[in-house]
Parts: sequence; structure tokens; C-alpha cells
Amino acid sequence: MYKWLILPILFRFDAEQVHHFICGTLKFLFRIPGVSFLTQQLFNYEHPSLEREVFGLKFKNPVGLAAGFDKNAELVDELAALGFGFVEIGTVTPLPQDGNEKPRLFRLKPDRAIINRMGFNNKGAASAAERLRKRKTNILIGGNIGKNKLTPNENALDDYLKSLDALYEEVDYFVVNVSSPNTPGLRDLQEKEPLMKILAALKLRDEAWAAKTSASTPKPILLKIAPDLTNSQLDDIIEIVTTTQIAGVIATNTTISRDGLQTDGDYVKKIGAGGLSGAPLTHRSTEVIRYICEKSGRAFPVIGVGGISSPQEAREKLEAGASLVQIYTGFIYEGPALAKRICKTLV
Ligand code: FNR
Repeated sequence: MYKWLILPILFRFDAEQVHHFICGTLKFLFRIPGVSFLTQQLFNYEHPSLEREVFGLKFKNPVGLAAGFDKNAELVDELAALGFGFVEIGTVTPLPQDGNEKPRLFRLKPDRAIINRMGFNNKGAASAAERLRKRKTNILIGGNIGKNKLTPNENALDDYLKSLDALYEEVDYFVVNVSSPNTPGLRDLQEKEPLMKILAALKLRDEAWAAKTSASTPKPILLKIAPDLTNSQLDDIIEIVTTTQIAGVIATNTTISRDGLQTDGDYVKKIGAGGLSGAPLTHRSTEVIRYICEKSGRAFPVIGVGGISSPQEAREKLEAGASLVQIYTGFIYEGPALAKRICKTLV
């Protein structure tokens, strides 16, 4: 019903407005007694063989919601009912910011893809933390952190530290996002020197927090990378992860490539800059996952994300070496039952 009835109606309207409408509707419906329970009955699929222990955390299933959908941690309980094993909130920045000018979210229907240049629109790390404190479910939460647009790269570390501090007690793992194409200069932070500096400092702060809160271990810190890195840059990433001893990698973010699209070229040109996600990214992100896992000898876990819209594509990412997967664009095109379908097929 989602694909032949709901989606064609939703796709008649502006993509970002539809996103807000869906989020608002979910919030409204979940206030009605019984809706949360019913949704869980419909969309959750539990089985012992789906459980995973990765970087010290116990996941009830390996399918997560990728960053960008719930930037402000407003829907964590509702998303938990939709069968995800974990939800990554953010990207959040220390200060609230509006993001880029609208329109900034575009569908490429023939490609089952999206181009976005949202630019980290979010209400700030403190506000996300406040909302997480009030959540009712205990689903595992990733905190994806970035820097404010106006913060120069030389001071980026301060922004990452501030966001880590604000979210520390509310999330289960952290993701350092240096791979969004929509914040000018951000991807330069993927270079060896600045990245080493940022990750090493975050690791130290993480250890200090763990000591202060008498937690048994610091929280896992992951690095989210772009699919547009060369093999030699991926080699650097492997070296950086092993040297700094952060917990792992999320591969991948959206791509700046426009190769092989079916959508009318003039329309794609008219859309302009932004990160492409969905089906055109499937192959490249799996390639990146396989390269990192093989080249590192599986020295650290990788979360695989990019163009998963079917159980088969999730399985390909896992077979390439990913320990967990995440979805975003596939969730839009395939509907709310995708996490359950993947879980069922994996069992
Ligand atoms: C994203 N993505 C993203 N990633 C991130 O680390 N921080 C973010 O704020 C966002 N924001 C965002 C907004 C929108 C509208 C989209 C479509 C995507 C990237 C996302 O988490 C994921 O890495 C890619 O979209 C690839 O996965 P899919 O969408 O092909 O399953």
C-alpha cells in the first residue's frame, strides 16, 4: 500500500515539507493510546540470531536508521517502534543553525535517489540532549556530531568537543562527521593531519568523561567517511583509525558524483550542489566497505550505509564486511516496513 498509494501522494509535494509532515503525523499518532504498541506489533521483528555485539554494545538487530532523518532527536521513541536496532541522531552542531537556503532536498525518482544540501540544519546539541533525556525507550542511540558553518576549520575541534560534551550522557556511541558535502570545507578535515588531531582529542575527552562518570569504558567513537575518497585516502583512514584507536568507521555518507544517473541531465544540473544518496550509491559504498575491511584485516568494525533498499542489498554490505547497516533513502522509497523486511530475511 505504501508504494502504490501513499508514496505517489507524498511525492506530489515538496520533499522537505513532506518530511516535516510525516514527522509531525508520527508524533501526533503516537500520542493516541495503543498506537505505539500496535506499531511495534506490526513493524518489530525480534529473533536471537539478529542480535549483535559490536564495539561493546548489544544491538537487538543490525539495521539502524542513518543520520539526517532525526536531526534533533525528536522521534526516537517513534522510530524505535518501527523496528530499528539503533537510531543515529544529528548531525548536531554546538549552536543551533538554519542550514542552507530552501529548496535543499530533491527527489530523483527514476534513480530512486535523493540529492540534499541541508547544511546541518539543527536546533543545537544541548537541545538534542534535552530531548534524549525525556525519551521513553532504551533503543541504542548514536550521536552524530559536526561543526557549525561559521566555525573555521582551525577551530573545528572545539565544536566537536562541545557537541560531545553536550550529548555525552545521553548517547551510546558518537560519530564524527567530516564527510558531509554541504558544509563548505568540512571534507578537508578528512585529511590525515587535522583528522588525527580531532580524533585523538575526542578520544582523550571521552576517556576523561568515562573516568568522571565512573563508566566501565569510554563510549565508542566512529568516523563517518565519504564515498568519494581514493584508495590512498582510504589507506590513510585505516591508519588513522588504528593509530587513534577509535572504535570504527561508518561508510558511507552521500556522494558528490552524478555518474550514471537516469534522471534528466538538465534537471540534475538545475538542482545543483548537494550529496546524492540512494540506489546510485549502493555499489560504491559497498566497494568502500569491502576495501576497508579487507585492507585493514577487519581490525575494527564498519557500519555499512549507502543505497540499501532491499534485504539483498543489506546482505551484500554485511558480506562485504559490515558489522551493522543503516538506511535512509531506502526507508523513504520502500516505506516503514523496510527494517523488518531486512531483519526477517537475515533470519
Ligand atoms: C543525510 N545524511 C546525513 N549524514 C550525516 O552524517 N549527517 C547528516 O546530517 C545527514 N543528513 C542527511 C540528510 C538527508 C536528507 C539525506 C538523504 C542523507 C547521509 C545519510 O546518513 C547516509 O549516509 C546517506 O544518505 C547514504 O545512505 P542512503 O540514504 O543511501 O541509505
